[in-house]
Amino acid sequence: MHTLILFGASGDLAKEKLYPALFDLFQAGEKLRCIGFARTPLDEKAFRTLIHNAIRGQKKNAAADDVEKFLKHCSYVSGAYDQASIAHLKKHLTQLTATEHAGRLSFYLATPMDHTLIRNIVGGLMKNDLIDSECAIALEKPFGFDGPSAQKINRVLARSFNEEQIYRLDHYLAKGMVQDLLALRFANPIFEPVWNARHIERIDIAINETAGIRKRGQYYEQSGAIRDMLQNHALQLLAFTAMDQPESLQAASIHQEKIQVFRRLRLFGGQGIENIRIGQYRGYHEEAFVDPQSLTETSAALCLEIDTPRWRGVPITVASGKKMGSRSTDITILFRKKEYSLWDEMNHQLAQNSFHINIQPDNDIRLRLNSEFDSQKKSVHPTDLRFGFLDNARLFKDPYENALHDFFHRDQGIFLNAKEIALSWKLIDSVLRLIAPVREKILQIY
Ligand code: BG6
Repeated sequence: MHTLILFGASGDLAKEKLYPALFDLFQAGEKLRCIGFARTPLDEKAFRTLIHNAIRGQKKNAAADDVEKFLKHCSYVSGAYDQASIAHLKKHLTQLTATEHAGRLSFYLATPMDHTLIRNIVGGLMKNDLIDSECAIALEKPFGFDGPSAQKINRVLARSFNEEQIYRLDHYLAKGMVQDLLALRFANPIFEPVWNARHIERIDIAINETAGIRKRGQYYEQSGAIRDMLQNHALQLLAFTAMDQPESLQAASIHQEKIQVFRRLRLFGGQGIENIRIGQYRGYHEEAFVDPQSLTETSAALCLEIDTPRWRGVPITVASGKKMGSRSTDITILFRKKEYSLWDEMNHQLAQNSFHINIQPDNDIRLRLNSEFDSQKKSVHPTDLRFGFLDNARLFKDPYENALHDFFHRDQGIFLNAKEIALSWKLIDSVLRLIAPVREKILQIY
């Protein structure tokens, strides 16, 4: 039995992502109980209706009976995030578990990532003896606003939990195609000999969205694309793409290799504002809660380099933007041309080989080859060897289902550790310092 105590239980994250994912896990046979906690006063019936609507909103085909069964395992406590209400939560838990063992406690903070709020919750859990060596806590980005604020959050958590009990989620790492990167790279020895500066000319990682900032103006004005998308999702994709083979598939080994990447990651050539591009979509100023003079970036691109013998000299671009032409997350690896090819004497330019991984929405990989040899003209044409994963149900589990599964089973592989967050902020803080004096000048409207 897993007992999930979900703080922020009436919020958007819980409704849009967590309840549908919990329901799927329940359907897959996980024994779980969810106790929601939030400020909103709701009786048990209203809470269950909220979950019911959240599930039916996303899963039109969910059978009413199955949803009802799941709802029997959900209950709610409302209160301020203070010791007294957490004492109330504990009483509720004790009553619930009088007849059925609680199992391990898993706390999930689907609340704003404010360090005072986290301190109050964690303090309340401590005072009420809810923290033991078996429990664990999960939380989601933003992990702070910069290096120092991220450190503050980490310090609050570290007072009560060991690093092995803290699950910091970047939901991009829970996407099937991202996890499959590990398999592609390390289960297929053909890639390793060419995965370096000798053979790779450049790497591009792009996360484009068609949506704008929706109703998140308040948050977004403090954040911008660099903090919202690059510091976490894009840099994590970069780390998975470029890291050395870990010693094992254990979380600690994966973290260790990602940390090595973050330690050596820098702007291309070491510095330079020319490696940074920022933009803002037309109409951003009209969004709710946005300052009409705002210089917040809604798109950004950084040209980076990993200063190791394996990668030195290879530009790695990470980019992300809202209100772009299409929604797509791609990793493109462009291979170098050979110095000499058999087609040079015909003045026939061969296409460069490239390896393209579409994380979403197509979920495919494409290898660009020169092929279709015409024996009369002796010509070749670029052709994409494409492999799609669309029918693979395992890979297409919802990222939150994957993440909650791993959290319940205490596997930290796809979660982030404190060190990698600190190192990625170090780079991003330096980028933001470089931008500050020239923001107005370099911000391009698109
Ligand atoms: C979130 C960002 O972390 O990721 C959002 O805060 C962004 O701004 C979202 O829209 C994108 O996630 P996905 O899974 O829809 O690509």
